Amino acid sequence: MNRFQDRVVLVTGAANGIGLAAVAEFAREGAVVVASDRDEGALARAIAPVLTAGGRVERIFQDVTDEAAWDATIADIIRRHGHLDVLVNNAGIGIMADAEHSSLDVWRKTMQVNLEGVFLGTRAGIRAMKLRGGAIVNVASIAANVGEPLLAAYNASKGGVAQLTKAAALHCAAEGYPIRVNSLHPGYTVTRLVTDAVASLGDAATAFSASVLSKIPLGRMADPREIARPLLFLASDDASYMMGAELVVDGGYLAA
Ligand SMILES: NC(=O)c1ccc[n+]([C@@H]2O[C@H](COP(=O)([O-])OP(=O)(O)OC[C@H]3O[C@@H](n4cnc5c(N)ncnc54)[C@H](O)[C@@H]3O)[C@@H](O)[C@H]2O)c1
Repeated sequence: MNRFQDRVVLVTGAANGIGLAAVAEFAREGAVVVASDRDEGALARAIAPVLTAGGRVERIFQDVTDEAAWDATIADIIRRHGHLDVLVNNAGIGIMADAEHSSLDVWRKTMQVNLEGVFLGTRAGIRAMKLRGGAIVNVASIAANVGEPLLAAYNASKGGVAQLTKAAALHCAAEGYPIRVNSLHPGYTVTRLVTDAVASLGDAATAFSASVLSKIPLGRMADPREIARPLLFLASDDASYMMGAELVVDGGYLAA
């Protein structure tokens, strides 16, 4: 399939995990991918195999919490390519802390990256795409739909992403902008975010992992590609009637 032939796609948080898998899939389907991350070295290393495979991928340094950097990133893309077709607000962090013991610093950091970053991206995407049209995919989580005691700030940030997505979708529809805005809700996926978060639990890590696995009907965590493919669907014309929707990809977690 070449659903994204010559389409210009920006993916944030592209140096690892789900973002990197999405970059590879978009490139495989013919897109010109602008891969952004705040970790320049990791990004360069990560996209090297995609370039070797013939993918058209450009690298851009971007911290999604930096408002001015959003303007610069979009301006750079418009200067080089004339337009933007797809924006994937994927960058995110996950720090384990419950509502009783979480520091304000963890709360603020989480909100800044996971929610403020997605707000800045969604706003920039609407401004960039409102005349020509496009699609915005905001990567939320099943944590937007269900509570996890150790993810207080993360739960709140992802719930915010889901509602922000709906508000943005309704705004675009009301204004007649040909932009679809939807959120993707992955379940537990084998990435650095999860392995680092689980490792931070120390002695409790094994019990936490076992408890998570026991709640996944498919009995395993996802591979990032299994999340990237539904992400591409949401960004593609195949999802032309999806607007303000939550696409859950969780191995059955929320159904149990
Ligand atoms: N892994 C999971 O189980 C899971 C489940 C549901 C949702 N998600 C969401 O998927 C998205 C990707 O997560 P992942 O698991 O691939 O994580 P990851 O840690 O593997 O990758 C996240 C990337 O985002 C980048 N990043 C972090 N903060 C940034 C910032 N301020 N500016 C720019 N880049 C930044 C990191 O450098 C990293 O490359 C996140 O929004 C996460 O919340 C992950």
